Amino acid sequence: MNTFYTFTDKERQNLTTALLRNPHNPYSDYPSFKDFIDTLAVSAAFETNLGKVCNDIVSDRKDNGNHVHILGNCPIDLELPQLDLDNPVSHKYEAKLTFVGEGFMALISQLQRAPLFSYESRNDGDYFTDLVSFNKFKGKKTGFTDGDLIYHSDRSYHPVRADYVSLLGLHVSENELIYTNYMDTKEIKKHLSASAIETLSKDIFETEVDDRSKENNMAWSSSAVHSILLNDDQIRYQDTFTRPLDINNLEATQALLELKHAMSKAAKLRHMVMKGEMLIFGNQTGIHNREWIDVKDADAGRKRWLLKTYSFENIDKATKYKSWATKEDSLCIRDN
Ligand SMILES: [Fe+2]
Repeated sequence: MNTFYTFTDKERQNLTTALLRNPHNPYSDYPSFKDFIDTLAVSAAFETNLGKVCNDIVSDRKDNGNHVHILGNCPIDLELPQLDLDNPVSHKYEAKLTFVGEGFMALISQLQRAPLFSYESRNDGDYFTDLVSFNKFKGKKTGFTDGDLIYHSDRSYHPVRADYVSLLGLHVSENELIYTNYMDTKEIKKHLSASAIETLSKDIFETEVDDRSKENNMAWSSSAVHSILLNDDQIRYQDTFTRPLDINNLEATQALLELKHAMSKAAKLRHMVMKGEMLIFGNQTGIHNREWIDVKDADAGRKRWLLKTYSFENIDKATKYKSWATKEDSLCIRDN
């Protein structure tokens, strides 16, 4: 799909220089890192195109109902380690010594007035996580493996879910075609009957917890009961994980089958995130997947590294979920 905005080389270089001045580490001192970015955002909004680009994205969501945007030629770190896939998170802490990508993602969130948040149980509450192929999750039910990934909303089992997910390409092999695809709820609904929409809007479904999330909370196997379709054309669904609470509920099973048919028919947006590209998509306005379309060198495919953030749509939404946050940090979400 088309890029929403591509930064000029000059813009990218200027932003990189500004972001490199941040003396704080986002993994060991996020509050100070974030303070620096918030100050930078004030000048960046006036001195660069960035403020206008962020405002235009927010308007495009509100006015046109578009929830997928791509930014090209974004600032990323000039030196990037090749992560050890046996333990990529601790290796990142040791080997990633600059934080341009993290700063850029924080800056975009600040200028969109869409606060980043983290999960306490994921990487100890880091605001920047990595989409990489962990060796230990090979063949498991989680996004942190290689190969295809079913259509889903991130954390569909959790009461607190991101409104938007951002992915920034750090290591990407251009030869291996790995796509992120998005299907909007409005498109899915075009292929659903009124009665299926009514049934899918009832609290009669549940979603199983994925393997990586279970790793940190073995007691948690499933979500609370929920509906699949939510207000404002939003969706809470993870293919093959979301199912009727009562397997004998024929109405629910039929509606789920109709949803699967609608997913097959619905229009999709498809994009391969390249190095230096940022893909921002709605996590509840639609569902997304990953497809290894044409990967000739699986090892090169497995080395793909995208930096990832979760954000709320606006500050009000962040306030709404405060009761789920840790005592220390109002934007770090607990599992229970
Ligand atoms: Fe995802």
